[in-house]
Amino acid sequence: MKNTVIAIDGPAGSGKSTIAKIIANMLGYIYIDTGAMYRAITYKAVKMDVDPDDENGIVDIVRSSDIDFSDGKILLDGEDISEQIRMPVVNERVSKIASIKDVRLMMVDLQRKIAGKHNVVMDGRDIGTHVFPDAKYKFYVEADIVERAKRRHLEMVEKGYEIKLSSVIEDLSERDRQDRTREFAPLVKAEDAIAIDTTTKNIEQVTQDILHYIRRGD
Ligand code: C5P
Repeated sequence: MKNTVIAIDGPAGSGKSTIAKIIANMLGYIYIDTGAMYRAITYKAVKMDVDPDDENGIVDIVRSSDIDFSDGKILLDGEDISEQIRMPVVNERVSKIASIKDVRLMMVDLQRKIAGKHNVVMDGRDIGTHVFPDAKYKFYVEADIVERAKRRHLEMVEKGYEIKLSSVIEDLSERDRQDRTREFAPLVKAEDAIAIDTTTKNIEQVTQDILHYIRRGD
């Protein structure tokens, strides 16, 4: 039997990863945070001092890296880097690196392999449009930019980063711009995705809405 894919796409800070994790838990599916994969490569590039504009250098990093997920953690070459990939420098550079076509092709290959073995809830930017255009369920989660930035700002402050709300707004706007305008597999709502605006809804409400659609589709 073919595995089920639930695709959840949307811009940064829309709440999609929190929602995707809950849905995966409730359904007993594997949760795959595809943003974490692009972040892992970006983190390694930072560590190795490879410039995001050095496309060949970045592609070499992807070719020689092992990315895996285990117990909700992301492993890069066997090391848990779940915390490190949230560093501000990774936020700043990740969209540039994610716009490199060869990087995306290798990441998408890995994403498809994982979904070949498990039922998955996968969140990202291009899951419903490019990675799994035939996914059984597709959702596009969005929210007002200031609301998204407030959520992301709170998360970062809780992690101990000293950062201004205005810088988070700038970071999200810039990443959205790069993600929406890149040539290959840009961020866009799939025509057949169900759009959910989380600006004024809490996680519980949105999760219930999504589960409602999924149960109706069974
Ligand atoms: O979801 P998150 O904000 O962690 O993703 C980090 C970055 O990774 C995004 O801003 C985007 O540039 C890139 N990304 C992507 N395609 C995906 C997931 C993330 O290009 N499927």
